[in-house]
Amino acid sequence: MQIIKTPAELNAYAAKVKSEGKTVGLVPTMGYLHEGHKSLIRKSSEQNDVTIVSVFVNPTQFGPSEDLETYPRDLERDKAAAEQAGADVIFHPEPEDMYPKRYGTYVSVDSGITKILCGKTRPGHFRGVATVVTKLFNISMADRAYFGQKDAQQLAVIMRMVSDLNMNIEIVPCPIVREADGLAMSSRNTYLSAEERSQALSLSAALKQAEDAIKNGRTNLDKIKRGIRDKISEAPLADIEYVESVTFPELEPCGGQLDRKTLIALAVRFGTTRLIDNIIVSPNQEG
Ligand code: PAJ
Repeated sequence: MQIIKTPAELNAYAAKVKSEGKTVGLVPTMGYLHEGHKSLIRKSSEQNDVTIVSVFVNPTQFGPSEDLETYPRDLERDKAAAEQAGADVIFHPEPEDMYPKRYGTYVSVDSGITKILCGKTRPGHFRGVATVVTKLFNISMADRAYFGQKDAQQLAVIMRMVSDLNMNIEIVPCPIVREADGLAMSSRNTYLSAEERSQALSLSAALKQAEDAIKNGRTNLDKIKRGIRDKISEAPLADIEYVESVTFPELEPCGGQLDRKTLIALAVRFGTTRLIDNIIVSPNQEG
């Protein structure tokens, strides 16, 4: 597996691979890879001749009071994990190579979808994500890019951007990978104390309960969301930011009844750590 450090080098590598008629899969990450990331890498290496994994803690998607400085980093571990999952290249640029002096172009998805859910408390976040992802698409010349449903709003924003800007790339959504006890895997889980980690299980437990209720024919979304809030509120350290339901992937308001494909998403703080989780459901789980 190769480590490539600069956009110019990756672009030259990608151009050569493409000139040989090979397909390129891209897995954008911020590193500190876990089984969730590895599931994306595995899918890409199944579907493409070459898989590029980017490991870049993107400064433009962090707010001023967020965890850019403390975000966990461990490139040596990431190299082993990426290689084991089937990556051919790790792209690990420096911030100044991605955003050189005089950098001034940003991609912002300005429809309502960036203003709700996480967009409410993280202004500018999706602009930073859309910008870096566009740059990564261009540099890697990828045919397909892999995104986790763990970040369902991010996935919806990227799908919107690709459609709006006629980008010639296939977005492949991948299911959420969870720890054996249900906690959705996240690089940020490492911030949790033992007590917070154990109380954080209330998130997946609440979503599982909602999913079961829906399987049993429940369709009243207000009641379903109230049930989720009640379950999470049993954990004394949990500070709920939102529990919302919107259509997926449009992220438009849905009425009180579950009558189409719907994203039920939540964000909850434990101390300074903010966790997100979600389920995508349909009436009686059909379709
Ligand atoms: P990061 O949080 O490192 O996530 C990289 C990719 O892994 C995202 O597509 C995310 O949805 C996916 N992922 C994370 N946890 C997962 C899990 N438990 N199961 C399945 N997939 C999971 O998301 C980002 O980085 C950044 O915003 C990025 C897109 C790289 C732009 O900087």
